[in-house]
Amino acid sequence: MSDYAVLCADFRETLSRAEAMGGADLIATSPPYPEDARTCYPGLTWQDYQDLGDHVFRALKPGAHALINISAPVRQLREGHGTERDLTPYRLLLDWADRAGLTVPDTIAATRRGAPFAYRGRFRNDWEPVIWFRKPGDPAPIFRDRLKRPLAKTIKAGKIRNYRHPDGSITPARTAKDITHADIGNLWEYWAVGGSQVGDSQVEALAHPSRWPYRLAADIVACFSDVGDLVVDPFLGGATTLCAACDGERRFFGGDIEQKWVDESLSLARDRYAQQRLAL
Ligand SMILES: C[S@@+](CC[C@H](N)C(=O)[O-])C[C@H]1O[C@@H](n2cnc3c(N)ncnc32)[C@H](O)[C@@H]1O
Repeated sequence: MSDYAVLCADFRETLSRAEAMGGADLIATSPPYPEDARTCYPGLTWQDYQDLGDHVFRALKPGAHALINISAPVRQLREGHGTERDLTPYRLLLDWADRAGLTVPDTIAATRRGAPFAYRGRFRNDWEPVIWFRKPGDPAPIFRDRLKRPLAKTIKAGKIRNYRHPDGSITPARTAKDITHADIGNLWEYWAVGGSQVGDSQVEALAHPSRWPYRLAADIVACFSDVGDLVVDPFLGGATTLCAACDGERRFFGGDIEQKWVDESLSLARDRYAQQRLAL
């Protein structure tokens, strides 16, 4: 495979091909919400989500990571029902862990703030779970330091206090250099990306109806894979993961059921990977 390949296919086929290619170093994806939660394209059934778990398992290299953003915002509460669709991420988490055999190191909450006045009838959907799965095997490295955020104010030397480790032992207070950057926790904040802004002009121009913030894709790629790795997204959509993989000098393989997004992603990939090579 060259730097990238994209096909028009159901996610099962994309992931089977990734498996046949030797496996993914990272699967980063955002499947459609359950059947009736969205109107812009058909949603997935519970059987689809189960199949997805099995295919993700097989398509990953041993020890490799899969970051799955799945939620089910309910636009309107149905008469006689609560928000059952909001349970999908948690059902999926349990099914993929208990039945498909993936481990779950953590869950990340990714925020994207909507307009302050939106959704008066219920709480506005300000965050979505991004579930971090890993295939059993020697854990592939993660690179959290790449996600350090600049601090608004430098913490001066000598301010590090005692640190208590999970096993109860303590690293005593020490003098440290000035601290200018903070470690990231499992709350990943992407502020002004409500509406249609994703933070990358090329992705923006594709106008896909349900896109990731570009920085979310870029942070996942940076933290959970390394240069030259194969990143796979079987629900390509507006090519956000593709662009993040390209910018991070990773190879990319992806698919989407809709020809339109495949065509648009391909022309974007041609351009972007060519620029990337020129820049190196
Ligand atoms: C939530 S969007 C992905 C958005 C993407 N992460 C982005 O930032 O642009 C889901 C995509 O899955 C595609 N899709 C729906 N059903 C599919 C299926 N069975 N197999 C593959 N792709 C599918 C839709 O066409 C849509 O583009």
